[in-house]
Amino acid sequence: MKSRRIWYAYLALGVTLITGCLYAERNLPAGRHSHAGIAADASVEGAGTTWLRHASFALADPAPTDTTDRGSMPAEKVYRNIQTLRGMSASEVSATMTFISASLGVHCGFCHAQGDFASDDKPAKKTARSMILMTEDINAKNFGTTTVTCYSCHRGNPVPVAVPSLAQGDWGRLDVSMELKKDSTTTAEAVLDRYTRELGGEAAMGKIRTRTIKASESQAGGTTATVEVFQKLPNKFRSVTTSSDARRGTGIMWYDGTTAGMVFGNRPPNVPNNAELEQLLREAEFFPASDIRKSYTGIRLLGREHIGDRNVLVIEAKRNKSSERLYFDAATGLLVRRYVEFHMTLGSIPFSVEYSDYRTVDGVKVPYTAKWSTLRDSWTDTITELHNNAPVDDALFTRQ
Ligand code: HEC
Ligand code: HEC
Repeated sequence: MKSRRIWYAYLALGVTLITGCLYAERNLPAGRHSHAGIAADASVEGAGTTWLRHASFALADPAPTDTTDRGSMPAEKVYRNIQTLRGMSASEVSATMTFISASLGVHCGFCHAQGDFASDDKPAKKTARSMILMTEDINAKNFGTTTVTCYSCHRGNPVPVAVPSLAQGDWGRLDVSMELKKDSTTTAEAVLDRYTRELGGEAAMGKIRTRTIKASESQAGGTTATVEVFQKLPNKFRSVTTSSDARRGTGIMWYDGTTAGMVFGNRPPNVPNNAELEQLLREAEFFPASDIRKSYTGIRLLGREHIGDRNVLVIEAKRNKSSERLYFDAATGLLVRRYVEFHMTLGSIPFSVEYSDYRTVDGVKVPYTAKWSTLRDSWTDTITELHNNAPVDDALFTRQ
């Protein structure tokens, strides 16, 4: 249930727009472009991000799992005016735009003329193109990988700060998170084995084939929602989020193990982009990160750290284009934090989940509270009702 707001998350207002765009273009006769949807969305930009955030649901790009779609095509074949991002897969464009907006701390409209993303009317868009080339050049000449990004210089400002801040105080003593200490008393294997045991053990976990959940959600803006989740092995997932704010309506998201979709209110259904899908895949797990040994590579113990007054053991692991850090409470053996970075050509999009209030139901432990944080949003889900192995109709995972 944690991330059905993938769409509210990093996409914020932006993706609404991009989506409208893609969707409209995909569904019109060839040669016609409609930006009606975009214009409608862009016009409320001034109304603040909240409404938009929750409207931005009818998402953007084709998911990589959707082989009939255009997501894997080069961006320049799907969009109309791609010059510097040529060769990037189309499904990466929307997440990249989110990354750029977050790096500069601006809305899409800072660079894009209302209603027409292909237009080059705004000078900032042209500057952004030369910035993309400059950044690629810095990396190619000096690092060989994506090391310096828009965020390295911009740090959430359109114009980077050039003078160190006085607010930084006694810079000589800044202790920048150098806390992680090597730990040779245990191993990644041992930490993961213990986690499995603490969750109830493989046998008990294997008996859980479906799960239905009701949860209450508190959102960063002070609003609330109720959430209903349906899960079925191995990773089928559906969530229905109903906001207490009638304007936001109900958001539904589904995943049948291959194809994902989402719909918000009476907008057209769409598919998550590749960064969003990463969030969804984690949300669809029955026990967070419990079987990373099956599908992850590079699993290793980074060391020991503190979260508040809690001693945690930190494991690093990688899957496809993402890497994550898993924080296990050294006292209880349970996962308390998960930090994920989804890597793209221009930079990485992070999100994290904090798990707490583990309770035992049918012999297995489930975190009753999960706090999700993304670039643009954060929300906390608290389970109010949970049933294991209740009958769940397969059709729930394939459609609105
Ligand atoms: C800092 C400037 C900047 C911001 C902010 C920005 N973009 Fe872009 N966007 C660009 C540039 C530059 C291009 C063209 C890239 C190229 O030439 O390859 C582009 C291209 C696009 C395109 C492709 C248009 C086409 O048909 O060619 C879409 C769609 C898009 N952006 C959507 C968005 C959305 C949605 C947001 C908000 C989340 C956003 N952009 C924020 C600079 C920006
Ligand atoms: C090496 C540092 C650095 C990196 C990396 C960098 N920028 Fe910049 N950027 C700057 C500086 C410095 C300015 C201000 C230039 C000025 O004041 O004339 C600027 C200005 C801009 C502006 C114009 C802002 C305005 O107010 O008009 C845009 C848009 C922009 N950058 C986008 C980007 C994007 C997108 C990226 C990543 C692809 C990026 N920048 C990466 C240093 C950087």
